[in-house]
Amino acid sequence: MTSETDTRPAAQTETADAAAHLVAPVNEASRARLAGNGLDYRVVPVDGEGFAPWLQVVARGFQDGERSDEQVAASRERSGYRRVTGVYDPSAPMAESPVATIASWIGQLTVPGGAALPSCAISAVTVAPTHRRRGIARAMLEGELGAAVSSGAPLAMLTVSESTLYGRYGFAPAAASASWRIETKRATWIGPRPEGRVDFIPRERLRELAPALHERVRLRDAGEIDVPGSHWDGFAGTSPTAEKAGEKRAVQYADATGEVRGLAIYSVKENHDDFTKASVRVGYLLAENDDAYAALWRFLLELDLVAEVTADELSVDEPLRWMIADQRAARVTIRDHQYVRILDVVTALEARRFGAPGVLALDVADVLGHASGRYVLSVDADGRGTVSDWGDGGAPEGAVEVALGIEELSAAYLGGVSLATLAAAGRVRSTDASAAARVLAWHTAPRLSIWY
Ligand SMILES: CC(C)(COP(=O)(O)OP(=O)(O)OC[C@H]1O[C@@H](n2cnc3c(N)ncnc32)[C@H](O)[C@@H]1OP(=O)(O)O)[C@@H](O)C(=O)NCCC(=O)NCCS
Repeated sequence: MTSETDTRPAAQTETADAAAHLVAPVNEASRARLAGNGLDYRVVPVDGEGFAPWLQVVARGFQDGERSDEQVAASRERSGYRRVTGVYDPSAPMAESPVATIASWIGQLTVPGGAALPSCAISAVTVAPTHRRRGIARAMLEGELGAAVSSGAPLAMLTVSESTLYGRYGFAPAAASASWRIETKRATWIGPRPEGRVDFIPRERLRELAPALHERVRLRDAGEIDVPGSHWDGFAGTSPTAEKAGEKRAVQYADATGEVRGLAIYSVKENHDDFTKASVRVGYLLAENDDAYAALWRFLLELDLVAEVTADELSVDEPLRWMIADQRAARVTIRDHQYVRILDVVTALEARRFGAPGVLALDVADVLGHASGRYVLSVDADGRGTVSDWGDGGAPEGAVEVALGIEELSAAYLGGVSLATLAAAGRVRSTDASAAARVLAWHTAPRLSIWY
C-alpha cells in the first residue's frame, strides 16, 4: 500500500519515534479504564477492514456526509502516516463501528530559532453522541499522550473545534492565526513589485511543487509543522475527498532566473448582482522569499472584477499589512489555532532559542504529571538554553523565579504570548515577570498555516 510517509523527505519522518509510534499498542491504563466500562480500546490497522467504518464515524463526528467507496480508498491510501485508534462498544447494534475515534502521528514542530522537534500530532477526536460525557474522550487523550511519551515525543500538538476542550490535558493555544477580509479596491498596493513573473499552472503541478517548497520554508516560522501529503491534495483539489476542486485556480511565482519561489491556490465566487464585485478565497499561499510573497499577494489584490479577498490561517503579524496603503481595508480576526503541550521540559526548552540571556528557576505544575518539576533554565548571550534540576533548595543566585502550570509554559513556548501578559492575567507568578518575559520572548510571531 502506498503510504503518506513515502512522499515525504526521509530526514524528517524516518525517526525511531515516528516508526515506533505507528505500531505502539494502546495505553494500558486507558485500555483498562475503558474495559471496566465494557468498552474495547484498540489500534485500527489502516489497511484492514476496520478502517472504513472508523472513517465514517470520524466524518459523522465532524458533521460531514457519508464517505463514498472512492473517498474511503483515497483516505486509506493517504493515511499510512498516522496511527488510527478507536473505542468499540460490543453491545451496540453496529459493533464494527467505533463509538469514539482518535488518530495521531509524530510530526515535526518548528520551534523558535529554526529547529524542529518531534511532536505528537493528535486529530480525528470524536465521541458518538450516544456515548458522550462518560469520560471516553479523556481516556483517549490521556492514552495518546501516554503513547506519545512512550514514543519519546517531547511535545504534543493539535488544532481544535472548540477552545474549551484541551486545557485540562495541559494543551494551550501557542500560535494564533489571523483571518483577513480585504476590500481590494480600497487597499491599494504600495509594496514591492518584484521582477519575476506570476503564471497559471495546473492544480496537479501545484500539488507536485508544494511539498518540496514547503520543506524549504517550514523551519522559518515557529509553530509550522511538516504537512502530511493528504493536506496538499486537499488544497490542490487532487483527491476525491477535496471539496469544490473545479473552482480552484493555481498560480506560481518564478524569479528572474526562472526558479519557482512561490505558489498560491484560490477560488473565485462570482457576484451576480454586480459583476465587478466577485470575491476570492485564498486556499494557500506559500512563499519562499519576500519577492514571491509580494508578487503573489499583489496578484491576488489586483485581480479584475474582484472586490474582496479572504484568507485564513495567516500570521498575526503579516508583512501584507505594510504593503497596502489603507490598513483599514483589511478586517483581521485573530483566533487560537495551534495548541501545544510540553511533555518533556528539558528537551523542549533546550531545543529552542531565547530572546535574551538570563536564568529562570521554573516551578512547573502538571495535572497529568508528565512535566511536573523544578527546573533551572540558563540562557547564554547567544540565546541558547541549558536546563538543570533545581532540586529542593532556594533558587540560584540572581535567578528569576517563575511558578506556572504546564499549560502556561506551553502557551509561551513558541513566543506567541509574553510571560508578563500571563502574569498580568493571573496565570503565572514570578519574582520579575518582565525579565522572565524577555528571556522567553521571540522576535517573530509563531503561526500555523494548516488545520490537522
Ligand atoms: C468533544 C468530545 C470529543 C468530548 O467527548 P466526551 O467523551 O463527551 O468527553 P468526556 O466525557 O471524556 O469529557 C472530558 C472532559 O471534557 C469536558 N468536555 C467534554 N465536552 C466538552 C465541551 N464540548 N465543552 C467543554 N468541555 C467539554 C467534560 O466536562 C470533561 O471534563 P472533566 O474530565 O475535566 O471533568 C465530543 O463531544 C465530540 O465528539 N464532539 C464533536 C467532535 C469534536 O468537536 N471533536 C473535537 C475535535 S478537536
